[in-house]
Amino acid sequence: MLWSPSAPAFLGRGPVRPRGSDPAHFPHETLVDPWVDDEGWMPPAVAAREIGKGFGGGRGRATVLKGVSLEIRRGEVVFLVGPSGSGKSTLLSLIGGIMTPDQGSLTVLGQDTSRLDPARRADFRRDHLGFIFQTFHLMPTLSALDNVRLALAMRGISRRESTARATALLGSVGLSHRAGLRPGRLSTGECQRVAVARALAGDPELVLADEPTASLDAENGQAIMHLLTDLVRTRGATLLIVTHDNRIFPFADRILRLEGGRVVGSDGPGGGDPPEEVAGVMAAPDGRRRRREWGP
Ligand SMILES: Nc1ncnc2c1ncn2[C@@H]1O[C@H](COP(=O)(O)OP(=O)(O)OP(=O)(O)O)[C@@H](O)[C@H]1O
Ligand SMILES: [Mg+2]
Repeated sequence: MLWSPSAPAFLGRGPVRPRGSDPAHFPHETLVDPWVDDEGWMPPAVAAREIGKGFGGGRGRATVLKGVSLEIRRGEVVFLVGPSGSGKSTLLSLIGGIMTPDQGSLTVLGQDTSRLDPARRADFRRDHLGFIFQTFHLMPTLSALDNVRLALAMRGISRRESTARATALLGSVGLSHRAGLRPGRLSTGECQRVAVARALAGDPELVLADEPTASLDAENGQAIMHLLTDLVRTRGATLLIVTHDNRIFPFADRILRLEGGRVVGSDGPGGGDPPEEVAGVMAAPDGRRRRREWGP
């Protein structure tokens, strides 16, 4: 291991186990269950019903999503796979409130974000979500440290504290020695790790990651996945990850496949057959299957 993939101590709400999850995967003794309200229920992290999205107008209009329905429970690690152009990034942008669906209903952490005006949607993103974009979206004129620090400053955190936190976050992705460099001086994989650090800066409840390991070698990819899944294990966050990288499939609780504008395959309860590229690689590194079996 090149660097230790553990989240900085300031991140965290204590060890938690999401409702309905398998206790075997949460071996802490001090587990609490944060996702249960007084009536014993919390909304899922994501609930989409028949959502549609297209681009362009008139005869040139292309419908990308044609009725996507899915539900992601709090604390799950869900991967989204599918061919290039199938709409994975579009779906992530809808869930992240960067765009709104043309049809259907979508709630994220219990909030119908399409009902919020753009400024409130931006507040919602800042306060609850962490986004790792496929093309990183780092600020080219800012150092790695300032890119992460900006995410904290936006939350009203003082310069002194944001510097300390950003430094710790960059350490957690193995980039302490590169903190002062701008993105143009960093490798693609280093930019990807800065983007991961920035996404975790706000202690998000839901992390949306678009190909977060695409530019990383196997060792760094594994380390990033340990960092992201630590977030779930220790803080009850939820992860939705778009990926083609079958080296990280063992980290998934559930894998959804998007094809032809719809979710066509899923494991988990009632999910049917596993996506073909997933079958056979879901064994955990120790050889055991992760939480769920395929099929109903
Ligand atoms: N803003 C946009 N305007 C017009 N077309 C768009 C826009 N965003 C996406 N598309 C189109 O929607 C389709 C789906 O794009 P999307 O980026 O969601 O695919 P993807 O599954 O993420 O692909 P990849 O695996 O290559 O990243 C593509 O045909 C793309 O050209
Ligand atoms: Mg994409």
